[in-house]
Amino acid sequence: MTLYVRLGVLLLCLMFFAGAVDRNNFKTCEQSSFCRRCRKVEAGKTPYEVVPMTVTQNGSTLQADLFNKDTGVNFILQLTALKDNIFRLHINEKSPLHKRYEVENALQDHPRQAELNIAESQSDHVTVTSGPSKAIIHFSPFRVDLYSDDHLVVSANARGLMRFEHLRTKTVKQPDDDSSNNKNPEETEASSPEYPGDGAEDDPGAWEENFKSHQDSKPHGPEAIALDFSFPGAEHAYGIPQHADSFALRSTKGTDPYRLYNLDVFEYEINERMALYGSIPVLYAHGKDRTTGVFWHNAAETWVDILSSADNNVVESIVNFVSGSVKKPQVDAHFMSESGVIDVFFLLGPKPLDAFRQYTILTGTAPLPQMFTLGYHQSRWNYNDQEDVAQIADKFDFHDIPMDTIWLDIEWTDNKKYFIWDSRKFPNPLEMVQNLTSKGRKLIVIIDPHIKRDSTYYVHNDATANNYYVKHADGKDYEGWCWPGASSYLDFFDPKVREYFGEQYSVEKFQGTTNDVYIWNDMNEPSVFNGPEITMPKDLIHYGGWEHRDVHNLNCMMYTQVTYDALYKRSGGTLRPFVLTRGHFAGSQRSAAVWTGDNAAEWEHLRISYPMCLSAGVAGMSFCGADVGGFFKNPDAELFIRWNQAGAWLAFFRQHSHIDTKRREPWTFNDETTQIVRDAIRIRYSYLPYWYTLFREHQVSGYPVMRPLWAHYSGETETFAVDDHLLVGDAILVRPVFEPSVTEVSVYFPGEGRDTWYDVDTMQEHKTPGATRIPVTLHKIPVYQRGGTIVPRKMRIRRSTAAMKNDPYTLVVIADAEGNASGKLYIDDESSFEYRHGKYVYLRLSFDGKVLKSGYIDNLANLETASWLERVDIANPPKGVKSAKLTSQNRGTVNLEAKYNTNNNVLTLRKPGVNMGEEWSIELVN
Ligand code: GLC
Repeated sequence: MTLYVRLGVLLLCLMFFAGAVDRNNFKTCEQSSFCRRCRKVEAGKTPYEVVPMTVTQNGSTLQADLFNKDTGVNFILQLTALKDNIFRLHINEKSPLHKRYEVENALQDHPRQAELNIAESQSDHVTVTSGPSKAIIHFSPFRVDLYSDDHLVVSANARGLMRFEHLRTKTVKQPDDDSSNNKNPEETEASSPEYPGDGAEDDPGAWEENFKSHQDSKPHGPEAIALDFSFPGAEHAYGIPQHADSFALRSTKGTDPYRLYNLDVFEYEINERMALYGSIPVLYAHGKDRTTGVFWHNAAETWVDILSSADNNVVESIVNFVSGSVKKPQVDAHFMSESGVIDVFFLLGPKPLDAFRQYTILTGTAPLPQMFTLGYHQSRWNYNDQEDVAQIADKFDFHDIPMDTIWLDIEWTDNKKYFIWDSRKFPNPLEMVQNLTSKGRKLIVIIDPHIKRDSTYYVHNDATANNYYVKHADGKDYEGWCWPGASSYLDFFDPKVREYFGEQYSVEKFQGTTNDVYIWNDMNEPSVFNGPEITMPKDLIHYGGWEHRDVHNLNCMMYTQVTYDALYKRSGGTLRPFVLTRGHFAGSQRSAAVWTGDNAAEWEHLRISYPMCLSAGVAGMSFCGADVGGFFKNPDAELFIRWNQAGAWLAFFRQHSHIDTKRREPWTFNDETTQIVRDAIRIRYSYLPYWYTLFREHQVSGYPVMRPLWAHYSGETETFAVDDHLLVGDAILVRPVFEPSVTEVSVYFPGEGRDTWYDVDTMQEHKTPGATRIPVTLHKIPVYQRGGTIVPRKMRIRRSTAAMKNDPYTLVVIADAEGNASGKLYIDDESSFEYRHGKYVYLRLSFDGKVLKSGYIDNLANLETASWLERVDIANPPKGVKSAKLTSQNRGTVNLEAKYNTNNNVLTLRKPGVNMGEEWSIELVN
């Protein structure tokens, strides 16, 4: 071993066998020069003012010059009205020294513009309207107030914390120029008496910054941007994932802000605002009356301060002044980014689902996944070899536990050379894949973005020869450390690199794979073991000359988009790709599902998986899960059981664990555990028609699949801080058990007194609103279906989703107080894009107390399906029903037997037998 390799191995060992998170590896705000500068801005003293003479309108955009009285620098402000109750505020320097980076790829299209009218133009402000919304730009001090239905919902720069550090040249000052202050003598720009300057140069990190042994050369000097947002009437803020913290954001007064900077944090701790693997800069403020969001369209390192009403002082007076009201709750946020421009979208709601939808109108929704991806995934670092994989699959069959995929972690490769199999362990990968697919299962393999610097590796040779790697400023290829040891990093911002890397996924090039092999993209923050903060230095250069600093948080998505596109192409556009990613940014939902990274087998880690996925969900990433069982450490049987029961209700359901952990397939504990975990997984499969329908709904509407309670009970303040429960769609309420040895848990039943929830096993009813202690056993977690809903299920559980494709459906109908219920069911071929050509059925299911009906939501749709209606359970049914009458075009009229169960108050109709592709109705007969 060379010294270099030995050092690398040592580093890896330290990374993976040390204790909890090493905070010293990561900056605090105080250690980050731009965060320090932005956070120092004093409230109430903004130097920015709009130059009234310059206000002009151009279509949907109002434009004006914005002047900084401290620096004499001019900016251009643009406020654009967009469709769907969205405004965009964009501020850039009028004549920047060079171009500033503007994020590409996060938005899915050009946002659609809406009509904008100037309603009032005064010497000190201008008012514009667009649909139900209104914006007032106050000139001096500069502030933008946004109104929805005449309510002030968000103000930008109300606290005057805006900062826009103009680009400047580094001038070398002579030491005797200015001996009276403590400015760094060599690094400052002269300021004139007229314009005292923005003080950026006073910061020792303005033109060069050191952290541990790393030096950031900062050739462009200070270029930070920051802006504050005040949300009158809001009680909590949510969003800005990824943090291992509560769903409702906490005040950052006296602590560090929430940090958004994609990082590989070894053994991350919970209840922390430290940055993690993903960064999605969208924040929602929610109060009883409305929900308002801001999407901060910036890919550089970002910190976000949050203030809640409890710590308001300055802010309170501003809002009271604006609204003339007595004390109102309010949330304030302060976004601070290292570079780029101010580009922010205001999502004016007014309801939670409106705001979530507005975000996905901008950044896109997740494409409908294949059904298999919603099944259960079995992963481990690592399944050792081909034999191991075969045995695991067999054991699932032996234990009668459904499972859709087996995953191979990095050890499948030839010494971490991705795309090349370790031929000793996997001599015949095609045979292995074939064995899985013959049982309707798939293989998923990991492909990481670091490339081993090895002259026998074709990817490295191609990348070197063609200049595909990210570079140092002097043009040399950057070299860092990751799993393979010495590695370089492909520059996915370069279209040539994207094309090249995409080609490697074709079945011809990626030998040993078929269209049934799907991809896991990890380490794409990117993780660089010996880099500053375990990532890439900020002064590296990407395609187009942009510094890594500008694009860091976006980097991960450029990579997963390549994979998604490549998988699409690989199948000739016939199969829906599946990609799992660890790093994520705004828009990542368009290409990948996400998981919460390297958690630990601890109760608190199980608990935090819910708020983490709720946050991801409202930020577009509905397809979220956590390593079931915990990645590090070994769970005991109880934790393992609870984790499976909870994991079965997150959208992405995968068991995964570290290479040093004990084997933990569902049968590795004891018989009781095997049986309970089997049940949890089988319940998941029984609800797959519902999950699939929700994913279709998400694709079309942007509504998250997993939702916080306040998404539907927006006026019920008790729900605002609840994040150990979630709603799956709007019909199912889940409250897992997150504590050991408990015999009861507290369940909060939301419903504003209107709704009622029914235990899905016993049909016992629970009135709302309020919290109730609910007894639990090891066999069960509390799960409820709302009265008034119809949930489609499949009750014949088989080894995989493929095996269940044509199986019949069961409808669970629960009537509300008025006797009504409704639901939806989406069916297609579960794998292809044929649904885009009308090959699907989307059914509206409704029950009015007497007749249950299934009708097409979309008449153009048409699918031949073999599946049929096997059973209808109607809870809370009308009294005295003796039989039922089914009518459909193909079956004519058929009498059905109705059986009433007094124990659970459920009326069952067996074997209606009608094909699910038809419209039909069932009338209850007394
Ligand atoms: C990272 C991933 C983890 C994976 C490991 C080896 O730590 O987060 O899931 O098992 O790398 O590839």
